Amino acid sequence: MSYRDTYAAWAEDPTGFWEAHATGLVDWITPPATTFNPEAGVYGRWFEGGTCNTCWNAVDRHVEAGHGDRAAIIYDSPVTDTKRTITYAELLDEVATLGAVLQDRGVGQGDRVIIYMPMVAEAVIAMLACARIGAVHSVVFGGFAAPELATRIDDAGAKAVITASCGIEPGRVIDYMSLLSEAIDIASVKPDTCIVLQRDVQPCSLTDGRDVNWADAMADARANGRRADCVEVAATDPAYILYTSGTTGQPKGVVRDTGGHMVALAWTMENLYGVKPGEVFWAASDVGWVVGHSYICYAPLLHGCTTVVYEGKPIGTPDAGAFWRVISEHDVSVLFTAPTAFRAIRGQDPEGALLANYNLSSLRTLFLAGERSDPATLAWAEAQLGVPVIDHWWQTETGWAISGIPMGIEKLPVKHGSPGVPMPGYDVQVLDDGGHPVPNGTLGNIVVKLPLPPSCLPTLWNAEDRFRASYLDEFPGFYATSDAGILDDDGYLHIMARTDDIINVAGHRLSTGAMEEVLAHHAAVAECAVIGKADELKGQLPLGFFVLKSGVTQDEDAIAAELVKLVRHDIGAVAAFKTAVAVKRLPKTRSGKVLRGTMQKIADAQAYKMPAAIDDPAILDEITEALGAKGLIG
Ligand code: COA
Ligand code: AMP
Repeated sequence: MSYRDTYAAWAEDPTGFWEAHATGLVDWITPPATTFNPEAGVYGRWFEGGTCNTCWNAVDRHVEAGHGDRAAIIYDSPVTDTKRTITYAELLDEVATLGAVLQDRGVGQGDRVIIYMPMVAEAVIAMLACARIGAVHSVVFGGFAAPELATRIDDAGAKAVITASCGIEPGRVIDYMSLLSEAIDIASVKPDTCIVLQRDVQPCSLTDGRDVNWADAMADARANGRRADCVEVAATDPAYILYTSGTTGQPKGVVRDTGGHMVALAWTMENLYGVKPGEVFWAASDVGWVVGHSYICYAPLLHGCTTVVYEGKPIGTPDAGAFWRVISEHDVSVLFTAPTAFRAIRGQDPEGALLANYNLSSLRTLFLAGERSDPATLAWAEAQLGVPVIDHWWQTETGWAISGIPMGIEKLPVKHGSPGVPMPGYDVQVLDDGGHPVPNGTLGNIVVKLPLPPSCLPTLWNAEDRFRASYLDEFPGFYATSDAGILDDDGYLHIMARTDDIINVAGHRLSTGAMEEVLAHHAAVAECAVIGKADELKGQLPLGFFVLKSGVTQDEDAIAAELVKLVRHDIGAVAAFKTAVAVKRLPKTRSGKVLRGTMQKIADAQAYKMPAAIDDPAILDEITEALGAKGLIG
């Protein structure tokens, strides 16, 4: 069936479409009573009445089907010079044992477990062990600092934490344990237990009564014959919470359900990514992001593929040939990464000379997401690899692509600069600010008509009002994506910009509002603003502006350095906040709204229209002057 026919079949009968796939793709303990109940939850719920277990579907059933010897995880770590293959049978033993370790420490169905780990196989094992016992995990990216971790521990009400003694970034070791201890000190919720993976690179000391050594606990459980069975959970139960940036410092806890998550992800493997069970799928991301949840951990394993857990970077570990090495050594069929990784590789090896050292014949398709794919990078990747390069667009909230080129259905033409066509499940429309549809080719707010398809968030954790306010209230009957873009005459989407204060730094989603909250805490700062300035490698980089309180005599550069330190301490290295500039005043409208968009255009050396409502146009000259003095324009 063509893409058009498949999409039309879904549009004709959305419930029937997902019902058919739910039966074939997932093992249910009790099949769902209804495929979709529009009366349940905020906008309806998928697969109500069904019960299932994600770990069973991702692990046990493949072993039962005789695939126990197949590689489930390939852990490849250039930073520790380690490679390890874990078969499905071994993975089953690991998750059943860790599940028992958690249960023996009082973690049960519905309890929340924070996972704060580097890119090691144990991170995936921890996620699956939670799924096995019906616990709800919340993975926190390793580049977040203690206060961010504390916010998540509190909001999730974490009963336990699974962590490692350290993470390894090129040139520095991240002491996870001291970050975790600081976070637990700050948090009001105190987890009962922390399971700690000790790493040879830098083991840590453990706190009596709270911390447990992963290896010891696993050995004890094995010695006592303890193994956890798969716990039956409702399809509508939360599988995990993943915090993502909102407009304030308080991140949004995106809730993923269990049944819908499995059905949608399993559907994508064959239909969107065009992979078969047994093939090697590599998402070069991090388990801390949604791409890592869906395509390092769950989807490849649900589909019986081999997933690669890569603890390294596209460059510097040791060079710009790192990705080619991994593809050739492990016979990767499909690679999924962010465009920034390819910009980094291209920057170091523009001619692709290192490709000649490797055999990439296994690679069929490269998928890119996380930020806009600039046509130049995409064209470079196509030319170097000689395989289709597919940009696809999605969000933490959806858990899978809203648009793309469905390689398993039809290899539609690729249009550079467009992340393809809407996937079945998504009725994507473009509306003006008043909520009226705009003609094709016109820029507007991209929305998805409710209900959202399986796997998309049913709500925000403990924050249903915020869910409605953030996504549903602005355009009644639609989910607001907060992305602005265009639908063209061929039905392709073009994603142009966020409509909120989220910026995208190296494929990482960051809130400028959260950074402003940090800057505003500095005793010398009267006012501040943070914008995303265009960056050749990372897409955008945050740039801070601050106005000193009157009477402050401290050196502006010293304060700027303190602000950089503050953001790194409060949010983390991932914010990549390296520049703050003192200005006399911030440009505002007469009603007091800071004109961040205009400041961004000045920083990017783009033409701008004088905002009609600007209070004092002279301030824009002051901003230009301040940026120019620091060599920061363009
Ligand atoms: N734990 C701790 N710190 C981390 C971290 C982690 N898991 N990941 C990144 N950091 C740190 C980095 O060391 C860096 O610190 P520094 O300021 O001391 O240098 C900082 O956070 C910013 O990281 P990043 O923006 O990733 O920049 P980088 O210079 O380390 O690497 C790239 C640049 C392009 C190579 C890198 O961003 C990359 O590989 N991107 C791939 C895209 C990706 O994975 N996107 C996820 C969504 S698909
Ligand atoms: P995250 O929730 O971290 O996945 O970030 C989601 C946001 O990243 C989206 O709302 C977009 O702004 C941006 N994004 C993700 N993928 C793409 C893409 N393929 N093209 C353009 N923007 C993208």
